[in-house]
Amino acid sequence: MEGQTFFTIRWEEGQVVMLDQLLLPGKEEYLRLDSAEEVAEAIRRMNIRGAPAIGVAAAMGIALGLQGAGEDPAALRSRFEQVCRFMGETRPTAVNLFWAIERMTRIFESVADQPADRIRSALRDESQRILDEDVASCRRMGALGARYVRDGANILTHCNAGALATGGYGTALGVVRAAHQEGKRIHVFADETRPYLQGARLTAWELQKDGIPVTLITDNMAGHFMQKGRVDLVVVGADRIAANGDAANKIGTYPLSVLAREHGIPFYVAAPLSTVDMNLASGQDIPIEERGAEEVVIVGGTRIAPEGVDAAHPAFDVTPAANITAIITDAGIAGPPSAQALQKLFMEGGN
Ligand code: MRU
Repeated sequence: MEGQTFFTIRWEEGQVVMLDQLLLPGKEEYLRLDSAEEVAEAIRRMNIRGAPAIGVAAAMGIALGLQGAGEDPAALRSRFEQVCRFMGETRPTAVNLFWAIERMTRIFESVADQPADRIRSALRDESQRILDEDVASCRRMGALGARYVRDGANILTHCNAGALATGGYGTALGVVRAAHQEGKRIHVFADETRPYLQGARLTAWELQKDGIPVTLITDNMAGHFMQKGRVDLVVVGADRIAANGDAANKIGTYPLSVLAREHGIPFYVAAPLSTVDMNLASGQDIPIEERGAEEVVIVGGTRIAPEGVDAAHPAFDVTPAANITAIITDAGIAGPPSAQALQKLFMEGGN
């Protein structure tokens, strides 16, 4: 990618190589993974994270899982099913994970009666296609979404929905990047995103690298800046969007949407159609990942709360469609979001 000095994930000499996001911004180191089990663990530990990137990693992990699984068709099938099962147990909210598993399953079934090497290469090719398509879809979202960003705009974003959260370029940050590349003089407020600090660790790092002006704020400062007229629009990503347009995203997104509505600030969600789950009628049906309480009470290796205190850590919340001005997808814009508007996008250009 032009100008980009890092990559999120790729194949290299039969290994899956990914930037270790747990070490950012302090260290830029890549993990080189040889097995599906290692990839699943990297997704669970969040060495790689972000809905589309999780989908890409899962697909590559599944392809990796069949290397060295022998030639016997029954053994190959049983290994494939095992790998898909444990990959599907890594993180529950991002539907891109399950979407990627489904795509890999379709490919597996289409070549299941062919020699083992052909099966392995078909799976690997499909995982590469998922990566390439993701980057292309981010660029389409960026180009579509940049129309909402005027010259001089102040954009608020939450978590990291950037190149690091996708195959490259980003969803919400794809919109930011496209506006910047069009020559608009923009400025981004990045929420630090408690408790996992994706905004502070990743978004600030990514935007700084691209030379896009960014101001890091703590999550509880967003209302202040909105009240002062310093925020023109909010753009965030999503982990799963229900058929009615309700969108699950990183915990803290829902209160931002309430604040934006109170202040009359447009609130955009940028996500590929692979993030839309038409099987779920509303956001209330979206499974919300519960992560460990230690991620709340320990920050950067330091305990900030008394030993033994109860702490909760729902990793995502659901923003109702009514609070969303428009959903920017790779197949067009649903604005305002509704079941009909999303359905139409699937009919016109969906995958
Ligand atoms: O827990 P994470 O870091 O995987 O959560 C990521 C987010 O919430 C992103 O906003 C979302 O996945 C969209 S990524 C383009």
